[in-house]
Amino acid sequence: MIKSFRHTLFVGKEILHLPSCQSTNDTLTQIMHQQSINEGYIVICDEQTQGKGQRGNVWLSAPGENLTFSLLLKPHFLDVSQQFYLNMAISLGIYHALVDYVRMDLCVKWPNDIYVATKKMGGILIENTLRGSMLEHSIVGIGLNINQMKELLPHATSLKAVTGQSLDLEEILQQLAGHIESYYLKLKKLQFGDIKAQYQRLLLGWQCERQFEKEGKIFSAVITGIDDQGRIELKTKQGLQRFGLKEISFVL
Ligand code: BTN
Repeated sequence: MIKSFRHTLFVGKEILHLPSCQSTNDTLTQIMHQQSINEGYIVICDEQTQGKGQRGNVWLSAPGENLTFSLLLKPHFLDVSQQFYLNMAISLGIYHALVDYVRMDLCVKWPNDIYVATKKMGGILIENTLRGSMLEHSIVGIGLNINQMKELLPHATSLKAVTGQSLDLEEILQQLAGHIESYYLKLKKLQFGDIKAQYQRLLLGWQCERQFEKEGKIFSAVITGIDDQGRIELKTKQGLQRFGLKEISFVL
């Protein structure tokens, strides 16, 4: 069983480690409604029976081989219009926790998929609740393929598939807790410009010409920025254009 962490200030001071649950995001939400829990509380499970992905997708993960966990944050200092900065801070934390293992080709595919070259290694599902226009609670769900080798989807990979080595899940969770905490504290100091600049540099295709798809049509463009709402800014033949989260996809 994973025990609480000593090296952080608040992330992972309390950890609920379950053998199985439907979704760690849902379990953490239920616990939060039943009792008062502190910022930094983590629910992790060995097996998710109904893991949730972005856009209503399921998140599949081989039991006991990967990391599937959710972290409670209380970003009361963020207005709803700034919520994408939380996604950026979490992506940066994950990137820095993994980069020493992966070394090459680790990147973030906008908006917040963790990729190695053109294969997905992990994803983030953040579910926010609001008080007025401010964020009250954020359930930060993170799924990372660590030791899984079998039954990876064609566009998926794992840390073991990339490095050739089995890795200790608790050690990686500790790294994640530390790096996510540092970027969250940076966010708390409202260092938005620095967070955005760092996030943009990690993006798959940042300032390179790539192909994208919109409504079945493929076009070439260069990613030139991300706006405060998290929309991607592309330099296309028609000039600069911004696209929202579900409007375009990458051609990989
Ligand atoms: C994505 O679609 O890329 C996001 C995947 C997020 C999966 C994680 S696993 C832990 C947490 N619990 C869930 O049900 N989903 C997230």
